[in-house]
Amino acid sequence: MAENKNTHLEHVSIKGFKSIKDLDLKMMPVNILIGANGSGKTNFISLFTFLRNLSEGKLQNYVEKQGFANAFFHFGSKNSPEMVIDIDVGYNGYHVAFEHGASDDMLIFKEEYCTIKSSLNRYLIKGSKGESGLLSGSAANSTYVRDYTREYLEDCRVYHFHDTGPSAGFKQATGVDASDYLYDDASNIAAFLYRLKTSPESAFANSYRDIVTAIQTVAPFFHDFFLEPRGTEHEEKIILKWIHRDHDTPFSANQLSDGTARFICMSTLFLQPQSLRPKSIVLDEPELGLHPAALEALADIVKVASKDNQVICSTQSVAFANQFSPEDFIVVDQCKGVSSFKRINPDTLKQWLEEYSMGDIWTKNLIGGRPEW
Ligand SMILES: Nc1ncnc2c1ncn2[C@@H]1O[C@H](COP(=O)(O)OP(=O)(O)OP(=O)(O)O)[C@@H](O)[C@H]1O
Ligand SMILES: [Mg+2]
Repeated sequence: MAENKNTHLEHVSIKGFKSIKDLDLKMMPVNILIGANGSGKTNFISLFTFLRNLSEGKLQNYVEKQGFANAFFHFGSKNSPEMVIDIDVGYNGYHVAFEHGASDDMLIFKEEYCTIKSSLNRYLIKGSKGESGLLSGSAANSTYVRDYTREYLEDCRVYHFHDTGPSAGFKQATGVDASDYLYDDASNIAAFLYRLKTSPESAFANSYRDIVTAIQTVAPFFHDFFLEPRGTEHEEKIILKWIHRDHDTPFSANQLSDGTARFICMSTLFLQPQSLRPKSIVLDEPELGLHPAALEALADIVKVASKDNQVICSTQSVAFANQFSPEDFIVVDQCKGVSSFKRINPDTLKQWLEEYSMGDIWTKNLIGGRPEW
């Protein structure tokens, strides 16, 4: 079957997950979550990490690392005995319900099934060893639906480029062959960029040029990357270096400012060839450390990517929010420990939009998404 690159997450319903008591939300090509500190933006974003681990059969390990299962239930399993997630992707749906395994504080799959939009059938799937049936579970007549959901979740990626310290992933040497896709923390960015630069495919070379040009708009002193594999034929390594406009000797990634380094990671993420981009790109607060002008450039590349790929991200930046349309936003508020997620009706803001952008409208407290006492 031909793959539809525009397939993305269309709808999500959640019950009893962290601060999300009950959520029913339509998803758009661009989804910008705005809201006060502690309102529930990261909780929503973490759903995608949760589902990714589930789709890879690593859920229990992930839950353990995050402080065990009870921490995932809305105010604990005594208050919310069930946690339910429903997603619609293209013509398919996926439903999973958990209960709390009180003896070992792990998650128990209570019910798991796939659906097809045109039918009321529930294709039950059953996993083993406490993991999801999306991997290999029996799925009478629904192998295609099951695999479709799993493949989507594998192609829905949460990225985090906040760490720019000496041990940050993108500063480490990596095998030159580690270039199938850009890793979640950009730790293979040198190998990935090297692949784009040296590929005979024109789309890859164009993409490399777009990335360099985007970086230059934010960091005019940046001339190009310096990407040279080292080592033996059997074990070639590569590390990120770059060339300053005014110097010949390459600089290391440690000689990048934090904001420039993050912008490099994000340009590579959003401007990579469309064939390599994940279906849904998820990021928490991409604005960290970026100048307002860089935020405009970031919004531009987000919009370019969102023509074919879905973008889901949170922000606290008014300058970044100013670049988007009302229908792109999800306003997150928290009341008595319960997060609410609302879409904006542009008609209600018609007059304001004639004079102001969305970030400014947000600061004027016209749409919520601000601390309330
Ligand atoms: N299991 C849970 N049940 C109820 N509430 C929870 C649970 N786990 C976390 N929370 C709530 O979620 C809040 C954190 O939400 P989150 O990290 O999503 O906020 P945020 O909107 O990303 O804020 P920031 O802008 O500061 O990053 C905590 O303050 C806590 O009140
Ligand atoms: Mg957060």
